[in-house]
Amino acid sequence: MAGLVSPHGGRGLRPLQVPTGELAEERRRAQSLPQVRITSREKGDLIMLGIGGFTPLEGFMGRDDWLRVCESLRTAQGLFWPIPITLSTDDDSVKLGAEVALTDPADGAPLATMKVTEKYTVDKARECGCVFRTTDPEHPGVGMVLQQQSVNLAGPVRVLSDGGFKAKYGALFMTPAETRAKFERLGWSRVAAFQTRNPMHRSHEYLAKVAIEVCDGVLVHSLLGHLKAGDIPAEVRTRAIAALIEKYFRAGTVVQAGYPLDMRYAGPREALLHALFRQNYGCSHLIVGRDHAGVGNYYGPFDAHRIFDEIPQEALEIRPLKMGVTFWCYRCGDMASSRTCPHGEADQLQVSGTQLRKWLAEGHPVPPEFSRPEVLEILRAYYARS
Ligand code: ADX
Repeated sequence: MAGLVSPHGGRGLRPLQVPTGELAEERRRAQSLPQVRITSREKGDLIMLGIGGFTPLEGFMGRDDWLRVCESLRTAQGLFWPIPITLSTDDDSVKLGAEVALTDPADGAPLATMKVTEKYTVDKARECGCVFRTTDPEHPGVGMVLQQQSVNLAGPVRVLSDGGFKAKYGALFMTPAETRAKFERLGWSRVAAFQTRNPMHRSHEYLAKVAIEVCDGVLVHSLLGHLKAGDIPAEVRTRAIAALIEKYFRAGTVVQAGYPLDMRYAGPREALLHALFRQNYGCSHLIVGRDHAGVGNYYGPFDAHRIFDEIPQEALEIRPLKMGVTFWCYRCGDMASSRTCPHGEADQLQVSGTQLRKWLAEGHPVPPEFSRPEVLEILRAYYARS
């Protein structure tokens, strides 16, 4: 039987979590080190490094890596990498060569130790122009970069915690080693990842089912980190997704899990990062639909398809499953897509996020062709509370 795809870099998973036997000692050591409180986005990146999702990185990037990743999607060593993974501080007292403890943005608990091998400043506009294709501060990902502190710290990390994700999300929070083991138990080798930061409606269900037609199964992989205001929180979204999977998918065709990153909304570049870390989780394919990881009108609906044609074949082992816009078509009397449906927009049921929020908040009925009743029930309860 064919095996799973190799982790990125081709040399096995590299989780940077401190082994259990050394944890108590490293935690004690962390308490005696200078404390650097990190941001939510940095925490997500750190936990991802800890669990091996960012294999084969060893820590936060230095200036050469930052620049080459921004401009040519490669680290200084030539490793394919689409978005810089960096850490910033305004604390002048952090010395080059020092060991520091990286602490939780919310409660200051130690999350990792890091040896500071480099301190450097970056041109934020250059980073944003390359990664987000805009320097507009209204873009939520650009806003995040602009709010970073003045100095970046680079260095290898030793991660002490899962950042509380396991306690909060239980079995949904799976490491790449765990998803790989699960796929192997299921006998899967062709696995499609479905990236999501939204509850799954029928258009998303359709995308996942098309993938199941051509793969062994699907990993429905929810972002568990922070989103922009107005997006549906992970604990509500993952419950709605679980209800959908239970009622509308064949048992044994879906694994539902989540990952700890914050959303960057970097459109095509983020689609590449989504592909890269799904390869680490053991997926051979990534579903890429309309405006993948986009926000507002910053990206064209299929820019994230095109970027996969612009990178060399050998950059990644995982492949995109490029899908058109999906919807219910009243004339087809069926789910369809911009690639299959011959009818016009007037026959196609398309509901924007804003429209749906309004309907749910006002208790207005939502067409069953748009979303399953079990999903709507969970969303309605959430909107009634909030
Ligand atoms: S995102 O992180 O990629 O922005 P989102 O939850 O909005 O997550 O979308 C999940 C996936 O479904 C993405 O691949 C996106 O391109 C795709 N998608 C969402 N809605 C549609 C749609 N109506 N038609 C086609 N693809 C869609």
